[in-house]
Amino acid sequence: MNQDFVERCQEAADRLASIRIIPVLVLTSETKALKLCELLMKRGLGAAEITFRTKEAASIITSISKNFPELYVGAGTILNVADLKRAFDSGARFAVAPGFNPRVVKAAIEGGHPFAPGVCTPSEIEQACELGCRFLKFFPAEAAGGATMLKAVSGPYKHLGLRFMPTGGVTSRNAADYLAIKEVAAVGGTWLGKAEDLDADNWDKIDSLIAEAALLAK
Ligand code: 3PG
Repeated sequence: MNQDFVERCQEAADRLASIRIIPVLVLTSETKALKLCELLMKRGLGAAEITFRTKEAASIITSISKNFPELYVGAGTILNVADLKRAFDSGARFAVAPGFNPRVVKAAIEGGHPFAPGVCTPSEIEQACELGCRFLKFFPAEAAGGATMLKAVSGPYKHLGLRFMPTGGVTSRNAADYLAIKEVAAVGGTWLGKAEDLDADNWDKIDSLIAEAALLAK
């Protein structure tokens, strides 16, 4: 077990646990990304997962790190080793993925990067644990059975001190169910910066969703 990796992942989980609700963002515009970060900081939600689903993800992470150094910015949808490297070279402080890819986990360990692979079954949890992961994304949370499923599936591993970040179908409606589980560090979701709202510049709506989430996170 690589103790340094375990500690870095614990630090990432602790930092995310201090924020509790993490926007999962699919962004193409740097200007809109920065405006969103301004609202997040104003409301006290100081973290964001920028998904590697757009070609702009890496440069947006760099810009966020420069303009909002106090915002804990991470990379999501890390599907391969090249994107993992790009994410951390760009300034990401943590990274997550929807699935468990041992190659990406091993590269994160070698690079000393905090990384949470995605899991939703006992077999995936055990494989990730064997490599030294203690911080895991639970995905797709709602479709996999929600908070009830997470409680059940994490039950046998309580002694390992696992921490989870459920995403996939999480919204302000059900976030509290997940946050009530001791092992849940934070929840993530796209509802705080939906593409349709960003495209339409629905900033009042985005701000009120962020304000609502910030209250829930307290
Ligand atoms: C993720 O990448 O974590 C999920 O796509 C977020 O799912 P959501 O759109 O249901 O919030």
